[in-house]
Parts: sequence; C-alpha cells; structure tokens
Amino acid sequence: MESLGSSARAGTRAIYQSVNPANLSEVVAEVALSGRSAVVRACAGAKDVQRSWSDVPAPVRGQVISNIGRLVRANAEALARLVTREIGKPLAEARGEVQEIVDTCDFFLGEGRRLYGQTVPSEMPSKQLFTFRNPVGTAMVITAGNFPVAVPAWYLIPALLCGNTVVWKPAEYAAASASALFELFAHGGLPPGVLSLVLADGEETYAGLDEALSRGLVDKVGFTGSTAVGVQIGELCGRHLQSPCLELGGKNPMVVAEDADLDLAVHGALFSGFGTAGQRCTSLGTLIVHEDVHGDFLARFDAAVRSAPIGDPMADVLYGPLLAEKFAVTYEKYLGWITDRHSVHGSTGIGRITAANRREGFVGDDPERGLYYHPVIVDGVLADDELFATETFGPIVAVTQYSSLDEGIDLAVAPGYGLSAAIYTSDPEKVFAFRRGVNAGMLSVNNSTSGAEAHLPFGGNGRSGNGSRLSGQWVLDQFTRWQAMNWDYSGRLQKAQMDVESLTPDLAFRLH
Ligand code: UN1
Repeated sequence: MESLGSSARAGTRAIYQSVNPANLSEVVAEVALSGRSAVVRACAGAKDVQRSWSDVPAPVRGQVISNIGRLVRANAEALARLVTREIGKPLAEARGEVQEIVDTCDFFLGEGRRLYGQTVPSEMPSKQLFTFRNPVGTAMVITAGNFPVAVPAWYLIPALLCGNTVVWKPAEYAAASASALFELFAHGGLPPGVLSLVLADGEETYAGLDEALSRGLVDKVGFTGSTAVGVQIGELCGRHLQSPCLELGGKNPMVVAEDADLDLAVHGALFSGFGTAGQRCTSLGTLIVHEDVHGDFLARFDAAVRSAPIGDPMADVLYGPLLAEKFAVTYEKYLGWITDRHSVHGSTGIGRITAANRREGFVGDDPERGLYYHPVIVDGVLADDELFATETFGPIVAVTQYSSLDEGIDLAVAPGYGLSAAIYTSDPEKVFAFRRGVNAGMLSVNNSTSGAEAHLPFGGNGRSGNGSRLSGQWVLDQFTRWQAMNWDYSGRLQKAQMDVESLTPDLAFRLH
C-alpha cells in the first residue's frame, strides 16, 4: 500500500514485473503486490480521514485539483512516454490521454466553487427547504490499464473534489504509470491518507473489498474493466445495498448506410477499430454495412488497413503492441473463432507478427521483441457467431451486412452491450431513427465510436454497465448524495400536507 505520507507494504504477497509490451525483455517496474489485509487497511485509513477531508472547504479542494492539473501539464511528456513504454499505446495517443487528465482537472477545479445545492420553497410560512450535495464517503476505485492514467483520473478527480477519500487499485501491468500519477496527485497538496494506492491481484482485491464492505469501510466502488468482473463487483456491492459505478466492455457497432461518405467512414472505422490496437472499451466491434455499399466499402477499408503503419509505438503508427501478455493469450483465442465461412482482409497474415508471419511495412526492426499482431477484418460475420456477440479487445473488426435500417439497428443492439454506437449517413431521418433504436450511452454521427470528450457523460447500459455515468457534471451523482434539509423557524409544529393554507377558487367559472 502506498499512501500519502507512508509507503508501508505490509501484507505483501508477490513480486510483479510490469514489462514493456514493445520490448518484452525490458522491465518497466518491479512491484510488490499486496494481500487482502493491506487492501482492508488502506480502506480503514481512508475512512479515518474522510470527515476531515470533507471539512476542507470545497473551493480549497478545488485548488488542490487545480494544482494537480498544473503538475500533470508540467510533467505531461514524461508521463506520456512512460504510458507508451509500459502499455504500448502510440505516443500521440498517450499524449492525448494525459491531456484528458488536464481537461478533467480544468473542469473540476471550478466545480469546487459550485457544488450547488438548492433552496426550495416550503408549503408553509417561516419554513425553508434546502438540498446539499454530500460526499458519499470512502471510495474504492479499481481500474484497467488500457487508459492507465486518464480513466483513473475520471474517478479520482471528482471523487476527491466532492470530499471523498479514495483507495485506488490500478491494473498491475500499468503499475509504473499508476505510481507516477499517484505521485503527481500527492504533490498537489492532498493531506496524508486522502488518496492511497494499493497494488494487488484481482483475487486479493476482491477478498479485501468484501471484508472492507462488510466492515463498513467502503461506501462507493468505481470499476472500469471487463463485464465478467463487473458482474462480480455488482453482486458484491448489491449485498451491501450499494450501487457501484461500473464502466464495462463494449461490442460497439458502426452502421454504414447506403448514403454515407464512404471515405469518411473508412477513416472512422480505421481509428475506431484499430486505434489503441482495438483495446478501448469504445473500440469498434462490428461494422454493419448496407448491402448496396458493402463491396465498395470493404475494398476501401481493406486498402486502408493494409497500408496503415503498425509497429513501434514511439513512432507515428496506427497502433503498437497489445497491452500485456495476458491480453495476447485471450486475443489468440478470439482469432480461433474465425472459420472458413468468413473472409479475412487487412494484412499479409493473421496472428502475431513475426519474421515468418510478416506484416508488410511493419515499423521497427524486430516485431518479435514485442506483442505485435496483424490487423484483421473478418467479413461475413453473422449474428450467431461468437465473433459477433463477444467483445474481442484486440485489432480485429467484424463486418456484416444489412438491408433495411431496422435490420441494421437490430444487429447493432443484438450483442446486448450498450456503450458506444456510430452511424455514417447523410440522412437526418436515419440519424434519429438510429438514436432512438440503440441503447448505447454514447452515440457518434459520422465519427468514430471511440474518442469521447472529457466533459460529456461517459458510460453504458446492458452488458456495458449499470447506467452510471462518469465525467462532466453527471459524475457528481456518483460521488455525492443529495441531502434534503428543512428548517421550520415559526416556533410551532407545522405539519406538512395537513397545516397548509388553501385559497378558495371558483372552479365553476366559465367564459361566456
Ligand atoms: C476506455 O477504453 O476505458 O472515448 C475509455 C474514448 C476514450 C476513453 C476510453 N476517451 O475512447
């Protein structure tokens, strides 16, 4: 456990090596993983200081957020380079990710001077009603490593601003990026214990969280990760009558209508499907292309993917390696779902890029040093294929066809996720029919499924989440609870509904 003011690692179980996925022989960080008792201790420590943190005036907490934003800006390049080195996302994307933290700080430093409640008129004289936003308490935030600094910041910044204390459990394979972000937060002026960082594996984290919830040490859980783990966390929190903030997977559809600008759609599909090697929760899953333009679109998309630069993430590439070994293992399983019924496009091979399985135009000297995979377009995917139904978290895009827009919408919602959905069309009727028909939390019109701006509500429905939203003003509902207060200063008991004055109307009155 690393906590502001302490670096105790009691309860340590194992050593974990976070490795550069572009160069597997380079260890980026070696960290000790904590056990469940350390998770519980971190929550207890955060609980202890929560009241004093919430007593710090919100504008002063906002000042701390402002300081953090300035520190992140001043250290942006170093942080972005570390992110690229540790999880292999292209440097341009890592810089964008760091910018997303700065944007979030910029939004929330002002919120410290708002955090508005309301004054509400009472039914009775000499009585006033009010609402206040109260912090929820102590939050445990568990995050994935594909956005190792931006997505955690989406939780940490508003949670802290609202007066909560936070225990953060990042992904082990992004431990160095997490430690760096933690240091930047620490230097922004947070008092000791207000934010702690715990590195632990999934099993120990779950066990520690279970105990911490049972002991009343955690009031809110935030989780970004797989749908399967989200279900477990949701069940656990439900037993304690808590509603976690869950940001889960996606099988994000992109509909390309017959009237779409096909080149624009190809650009959008290229970035949506293969940016971050397809490892965003907002990555494109399935292209649903109108039958009249399917052949033309596929030919253009194939050409674009074939010529896209893939390789060294420090260079100007579309994507680099997969995040870490465990993702490569599951991704290879998904590749096994491609059958003879499908046709494959987009590269000079399938699977891991090696000397024997070359990617023409690979950027870098030796692909075998890293977890590099060919981009794959799989055409002919049907609604009952596993490739259609399951999030594949890698550089693979499925393609299917539709004839009527209703059918396209049915295909878009069929996998049961509901994070992000896109349509390419020049017809406003189709845009709004699509908007009404899909259940995604986020929609793009003539734009990528990924790349949301940091001040719009971010989140999903169905298998993508429980309706919670991060970012902008909407996340305040995750990290505060409304408290209603009434104050009767009449000096007597005035009973609501019963002691209310009424003025007599003449309801029989009619105009002649
Ligand atoms: C994620 O993959 O968990 O909208 C988040 C986007 C990014 C965030 C993705 N801003 O694609």
